[in-house]
Amino acid sequence: MRGALRSRAGMRPCSRKEGSTRGFTPCRESARMSMAGKFDYVYQGEEEKLTAAYDKKLLKSLLSYARPYFARICLCLLAIVIVSACELFAPQIIRAAIDYALAPAAGSGAPLDSRITTLWLLGGALAGTVLVRLLLGAFEAYEIQRITQHALNALRSDVFTHVLKLPLSFFNANPVGRIVTRLTSDIQSISDFFSVALLAFFRDIALIIGSFALMFHLHARLTAYLFVVLIVIAVSVLYYRKIARAVFRELRRKIAKLNGFLQESLTGVSTIQLFGYEGTSSNTFQSIANEEYQSTLTELKLHSFFRPFIRGISILADVLIILAGGKLVIEGELSIGSLVAFLSYNNLFFSPLNDLAEKYGVLQSAMASSERLFLLLNEPVEPSGRKSLGAGSSGLEIEFRNVWFAYRGEDWVLKDISFRLEANQSLALVGPTGAGKSSIVGLLLGLYKKQRGEILVGGIEIDEIDKEALRGVMAFVQQDLFLFQGTLAENVTLEFVGNDQTAAIPISQDSNLAQLLGRLPLKAKISSKAGTLSVGEKQLLSMARALYRTPRILILDEATAHIDSITESLLQDALSQLEGKLTSVVIAHRLSTIKESDQILVINHGSIVEQGHHSELLAAAGLYAAMYKLQMAQAA
Ligand SMILES: Nc1ncnc2c1ncn2[C@@H]1O[C@H](COP(=O)(O)OP(=O)(O)OP(=O)(O)O)[C@@H](O)[C@H]1O
Ligand SMILES: [Mg+2]
Repeated sequence: MRGALRSRAGMRPCSRKEGSTRGFTPCRESARMSMAGKFDYVYQGEEEKLTAAYDKKLLKSLLSYARPYFARICLCLLAIVIVSACELFAPQIIRAAIDYALAPAAGSGAPLDSRITTLWLLGGALAGTVLVRLLLGAFEAYEIQRITQHALNALRSDVFTHVLKLPLSFFNANPVGRIVTRLTSDIQSISDFFSVALLAFFRDIALIIGSFALMFHLHARLTAYLFVVLIVIAVSVLYYRKIARAVFRELRRKIAKLNGFLQESLTGVSTIQLFGYEGTSSNTFQSIANEEYQSTLTELKLHSFFRPFIRGISILADVLIILAGGKLVIEGELSIGSLVAFLSYNNLFFSPLNDLAEKYGVLQSAMASSERLFLLLNEPVEPSGRKSLGAGSSGLEIEFRNVWFAYRGEDWVLKDISFRLEANQSLALVGPTGAGKSSIVGLLLGLYKKQRGEILVGGIEIDEIDKEALRGVMAFVQQDLFLFQGTLAENVTLEFVGNDQTAAIPISQDSNLAQLLGRLPLKAKISSKAGTLSVGEKQLLSMARALYRTPRILILDEATAHIDSITESLLQDALSQLEGKLTSVVIAHRLSTIKESDQILVINHGSIVEQGHHSELLAAAGLYAAMYKLQMAQAA
């Protein structure tokens, strides 16, 4: 990255202060840092919001999804208890086999035949425990996976349904990639936790407590020696937890940064290629990937050290048992069978600690993931009123009363907008780029909330109208149309049946809509990137989609800018036939298309600067007249 950027001409050297990662000054140093630094800036915030690795409230919210399966979870727990009991019972059988059949205490006088019978019986019992462990283990593993998948499916659906109800401002502030991560990898890490770590946790507790108690039962003094080892372990686990938390968090941040960069680069790949930015991008990628690699290495080192460390301590404990226990055997205080059982319990005791690092990792990411998911679930949904707009198919009146609106803070995009449009009339919004025309339409569609004033649709304040009812009466022909995967027909009706049946759209053949549709290859399959349609075709489709809904208010934002003049006149025809049947709001740069509108508003810098009919505005000789004359002169 350094080399690539250094060669870029026209950049001035930095002062020391400017070289920070957050500097947006276009100096050489900050440009060198800005790409990688930007992703620090964007993704750091989110990770820093995440606080605890373990949180009772979170765990409770998560477990609420498992509640419907309470009975089956209890069955699984019972299976775990039985499996653990079998594991803990096995060394006792081996102890009995050694002490009663293989090497009975001198002078016990047991006949050879009965020793062999005992061996067979105990061998059978051991095989029985293995069989129970196998069967119940398989049942419990399958069942818990099934419950996890069910519960997470419900969680995923809840999150998705919730996301669909969030206001547009949320999507403006959150990149799509981040939301997709919530629904995919975050759900996955919670799934890992439930299916791998949570039950293992119960088994681990059972094994640790059980083996310790049984060792104590076998020989209390020998077990007391192991306390020394236990203290070492407890201290090192606490210390490990402290370091691991910081390392895991750093790694998660680096992964988020890498994903963010990847997502942005791939979305904008055509711009990267067209402007020859491949070198810089791949250099930035390498430096971000390198950071992630370094963090992964640190995590690996921690892992690689911790596992052998615990293993070493467990061997040390074995040595301790053999030495101290062996002495007890020689002194006749402990049987050989008990010593062997003691060693087995020692191994059982340590086995959960061996993969503690991995389990802690799973717990950490599951907690972080669930925190992020519940933050998302706690995002307030788009507010909606309760009033309906009443039945009917004719247009509705629209009124703006002293409306003020800003996307952020008090950065007013619309200032004191007031106008009234009677039912079944047409309104045109004109004005320079960035004046606020689309913002007016956004408010009318209920996509954003005004800060001051009133907006009335059909005589009812917009905030009091049910959102679904409001959008049910409106159709919006967008500047940039989004296409879903499916046929064009499906994209008109927005009913996706997944077969070609929908190619026949239920409309009368002599309608305007039929004429529009006649110009589109309706059976063609399209991808959601809309790359297969021309811009003009997309606008036709957008119009067809809107008309199909038979709206009471039709809103067009730059709907005819990319259509040839023949198709445009067809569209104008279609629109003029709708005149008097619905209320329409049209944004247009080409003023020739809106001359017939009942009312024209000229917007500039967020305010209405002129208002009236075409002829009145021409006579006023203001901004509209100037724009119109300029366009006429260009057309001539
Ligand atoms: N989502 C948004 N967040 C923040 N600011 C925005 C957002 N959308 C638009 N703006 C800003 O609001 C102002 C008005 O934008 P708007 O889209 O309403 O203009 P417009 O009149 O429709 O322009 P054009 O004719 O170019 O479509 C612009 O300065 C724009 O940068
Ligand atoms: Mg606009």
